[in-house]
Amino acid sequence: MFLSYNHKNMLADAIGKHGVSTTELRMLIPEKNRAAATLEKTRREKIHGWMDLPYGRTGLSLAMTHAKTVRRLFDRLIVVGIGGSDLGARTLLETLDSDGRIQVIFLSNPDPETLATWLRSGPFWKRTAINVVSKSGTTLETLSVFFALRESLIKSVGERNHATHVYITTEPNGGPLHRFCKEHNYTFIPHPADIGGRFSIFSVVGLFPAACAGIAITDILRGARTFESARRKDPTNNASALFACLHSVLLRRNHPIHVLMPYADRLRQTAFWYRQLWAESLGKDGKGPTPIAALGAVDQHSQVQLYNQGPHDKIFTFLAPQTYRHDSKRVPAIAGSMQETTYMSGKTFSSILNAEREGTAAALTNAGHPNGTILLKDLSPASLGSFLQFYMTATAYMGSLLDVNPYNQPGVEAGKIATKQILQGMV
Ligand code: PA5
Repeated sequence: MFLSYNHKNMLADAIGKHGVSTTELRMLIPEKNRAAATLEKTRREKIHGWMDLPYGRTGLSLAMTHAKTVRRLFDRLIVVGIGGSDLGARTLLETLDSDGRIQVIFLSNPDPETLATWLRSGPFWKRTAINVVSKSGTTLETLSVFFALRESLIKSVGERNHATHVYITTEPNGGPLHRFCKEHNYTFIPHPADIGGRFSIFSVVGLFPAACAGIAITDILRGARTFESARRKDPTNNASALFACLHSVLLRRNHPIHVLMPYADRLRQTAFWYRQLWAESLGKDGKGPTPIAALGAVDQHSQVQLYNQGPHDKIFTFLAPQTYRHDSKRVPAIAGSMQETTYMSGKTFSSILNAEREGTAAALTNAGHPNGTILLKDLSPASLGSFLQFYMTATAYMGSLLDVNPYNQPGVEAGKIATKQILQGMV
């Protein structure tokens, strides 16, 4: 295992401090068993393929093969996608060490200011590839940005040569992007049909950009596999099932706000990945927790006042690596009048950050706010892989416990239709 989660403390606190009765917890057992059975059924019947992704499938070899070509021909990869087609790869890239051979840039927002840097022709296009990621192949933000980038690419390298620069990840569904890919002879990387965007981090969607950056994607999957194999051995009492149970029981007891607060800059994007996963999967049918992405220790000086003395409506999950990669530097002792600072002298920065996390958790516990801590062994690909698989399965368990379908997002459609009408000049 690459992570530990102190669910036993959380469980004891739920009973001892947050008014959850043992009867209430006992009543959850059949629900938990049902959630585990649903998960196993969808896995066995291959309705949702994401649980099998850690075991390799075709994503790994596709990602490695195409990444090899990109690393040979190009210096830069621009990834164009949004939501689940963007956040997974961003998380891998921002958390893990790349080898620096390829610069990977993410463009998800159709913001003219951000795009201006790339929407111009120039010699840099000779060594730049584009990976367009859209499962549906119809997403406004992704397609509009791609079309504009493509124009600059063609102006720079010529119509005849530009196709070798374009890698399209979409479902082989005969949809607009799939057709466009075939018409122009772009490299096609099939998006698995049985895997939705926010559960696709271990498919080509996450693995291809990560492999281009030289990240050890086999280690990511090894970590995910370690968690998933342990979970399969005990589908009802594993860490993610218990995590979901605690969150669902406290959600019913007026704790609808769920904060993930990593204590590591490198994990900031992971909190954004969690925010989308939890929100889009669980927020429907009038139900669902509101996820918050925070960052320790920075948000201690921004959010913790509210967390500690505001309404008792939140559950906190702290996340931290047990070891940080570069941790030899100690705070030097300062001679002279700065007596008040001697407590920090000689401390490593990890011990400062850890003390801040533990101190914040203790203060929240004392103030009666439920909280738990997930510790990653380190910030390695395997540890991260394990954690990401943990959270995806926790999300699926939560979906069953809340009796919602975690795999759809009908609420996004209404806004898409209205946007299209506005752009068509209908309103
Ligand atoms: O998680 C999801 O399913 C969504 O966030 C999608 O990834 C997002 O809407 C982008 O869709 P698509 O990949 O079809 O462009």
